[in-house]
Amino acid sequence: MTTDNCTFHATGERGSGRAYFDGDQTARREPCPPTMALARPELGNEPVVSIHGLNHRFGRGDISQQVLFDIDLDIKPGELVLLTGPSGCGKTTLITLIGGLRSIQDGNLEVLGRNMRGLARQDQVETRRDIGFIFQSHNLLDALTAGENVSLALDLKTYKPDRLREHASNLLGIMQPDARNERLDAVPRRVDALARTLTIGLLEHLRLGERVDHKPHQLSVGQKQRVAIARALVNHPRLVLADEPTAALDKASSEIVIDLFKRLTRSGSTILIVTHDSRIMDQGDRVITMKDGRIQSNVMIDESIRVCVFLQSVPLFSGLPPGQLVDVAEQLRKETHAADACIIRQGEAGDKFYLIKEGTVEVRVAEGSTGMQVATLGPGQFFGEMALLENQPRNATVTARNHLECYTLSKQAFLNARAAFAPMRDELLKVYAQRYRSG
Ligand SMILES: Nc1ncnc2c1ncn2[C@@H]1O[C@H](COP(=O)(O)OP(=O)(O)OP(=O)(O)O)[C@@H](O)[C@H]1O
Ligand SMILES: [Mg+2]
Repeated sequence: MTTDNCTFHATGERGSGRAYFDGDQTARREPCPPTMALARPELGNEPVVSIHGLNHRFGRGDISQQVLFDIDLDIKPGELVLLTGPSGCGKTTLITLIGGLRSIQDGNLEVLGRNMRGLARQDQVETRRDIGFIFQSHNLLDALTAGENVSLALDLKTYKPDRLREHASNLLGIMQPDARNERLDAVPRRVDALARTLTIGLLEHLRLGERVDHKPHQLSVGQKQRVAIARALVNHPRLVLADEPTAALDKASSEIVIDLFKRLTRSGSTILIVTHDSRIMDQGDRVITMKDGRIQSNVMIDESIRVCVFLQSVPLFSGLPPGQLVDVAEQLRKETHAADACIIRQGEAGDKFYLIKEGTVEVRVAEGSTGMQVATLGPGQFFGEMALLENQPRNATVTARNHLECYTLSKQAFLNARAAFAPMRDELLKVYAQRYRSG
């Protein structure tokens, strides 16, 4: 087992802006001074996206409606930024402006060093070539197969075979560093063959190897979404703009996509994801929240804030007022356990409460000499509370089924939290009722 202190500091950590929580439980941070930008040194420090005083309206005259108000935003190279907010608050409008799909009406917007206002047609085309856009509605071409939709985006005219081989080798290497060139070694040095190999590699990585030759109408919504993701990434763009890329994906596919995005940011891409998906909300370097066309909060995420974001997604803690959530987060410790490790043993004294972050555990309760009840718990679920509440030995043995990451609270911290926070007491009661009902 390894443990880690993960205390949450409400103020002044790592020279960052001061973090605080507002009334609607959104972690916020005051604007960050330029010195604390997340840019990775090797990628340079110039913003990939720089927006100042951006306004946007739809329609003209009396029926026009302003949907973006005074947007200011810098995104640094290598950042993975999540943009969230209620439906209709202007997220898609903002990223289509960044992607050069709409004209700027008012304010300044620079993308990859180019001023997007009044950009000449040729510059527009070149800027778009550096951007991978994943649309909310996929926008695949119905007449083409999944593979053709992806390789069409490769813009093969711009590649000579050697250059395409190098490009394919880089991108495949990002997905599978160990098998860097194996696939390509067997392929003729022809642009079409290399393009197909890269396309298949990308689609296989997104678990679509069986669907390369299917047309969009033969694919599920989640499969189409992944084809659209492959299409946006096949050029290894410097900037990826993704509108709800995981909305239709199951947990496993969404994890593969986020993992790929993270790998791309490490290789120099910058990624802006519009999302409502709570499963990925703690995965970015930054979370920007919009409301009614304005940026409401802009929060750098580090480990301490990730803990709070995670706690907010767990029913046991989500009802806590922000200040109390921070109190609990401050007292959590992180533990990791290897697969098959025994975490608590029936009959032993209990001194900790466990909350699962990643992985699953098996709970075994021995009854008499032969009976055995078994249950499985996963992320967001907890165990170990009974011995603390009733001052009894552990009533079950809990074993990690796979690699496990969990947060623990000491007995005293757990009992204090439960005594102080009515929402937590109510939530515990609900869980007990369920456990008793189920057996
Ligand atoms: N082409 C358009 N013409 C007129 N109004 C538009 C147009 N596109 C969007 N809007 C309006 O602009 C506002 C912002 O829309 P936008 O699509 O940017 O929201 P969103 O935050 O992406 O929402 P969602 O989460 O539902 O995708 C909404 O009120 C919407 O009705
Ligand atoms: Mg939208």
